[in-house]
Amino acid sequence: MSLGPELSAIECQQIDAECNHYPQRRAAAIEGLKIVQQHRGWISDGTLKALARYLEMPEGELDGVATFYNLIFRQPVGTHVILLCDSVCCWIKGADSLNQYLCDKLGIKPGQTTADGRFTLLPIVCLGDCDRAPTLMIDDQQHGNLTPESLDQILAALDSETNTSGSTLRHAVADSHVKAGGGVDD
Ligand code: FES
Repeated sequence: MSLGPELSAIECQQIDAECNHYPQRRAAAIEGLKIVQQHRGWISDGTLKALARYLEMPEGELDGVATFYNLIFRQPVGTHVILLCDSVCCWIKGADSLNQYLCDKLGIKPGQTTADGRFTLLPIVCLGDCDRAPTLMIDDQQHGNLTPESLDQILAALDSETNTSGSTLRHAVADSHVKAGGGVDD
C-alpha cells in the first residue's frame, strides 16, 4: 500500500506514545522518524513536513536530525539494505574486495538499488564489530568474518525468507549517499 505524505492513524498513535515520555513533542524526533520509516521504508520531503508539523517543530530542524542520524533514509531504498563497513579494520581485512564482489553479484554500485528493488548497497562507518572484520549489517542483523562464500549464504537466506513469507520488510538503516541527494516527495 502506498501512503501519502500525511501521517496515518497508527503512525500518529505510535508517535503520541513516544511523545508522552517527554515534556516537548519535538524531543521525540528520532523516535518519530524511526516509526514513520518503519511504515514507509524511507522519509520523503512531504512526510518530513507532516511529521515536523505533528511534532510541533520547524521542518528544517527535523531535517537536520534526519540528516545527522545515519539510520534514517531520505530517499527510497530496497527491501533489504546492505551496509558494508568501510572503516579501517574492515578495509585492512578486505572490505574493498567484498564490496566489489557484492557490486558484481548484485549488478549495482555502492549507493544504488537493484532493478528488482530487493537490495540497496551502502557503505557505512565502523559498526563496532571490528573483532569480526570484515563486517556488514543487513536490515537489523550484523554479520562478521565475511567471505564471498558467507555473503552468498547470507543473500541466499534472505532470498528464501522473502520467498517463504512474501514479505516486503523494510528496516531503518541509512547512509550518507542516500541522504546527500535530499528527499524525493511522495
Ligand atoms: S572497522 Fe568495520 S566494524 Fe569496526
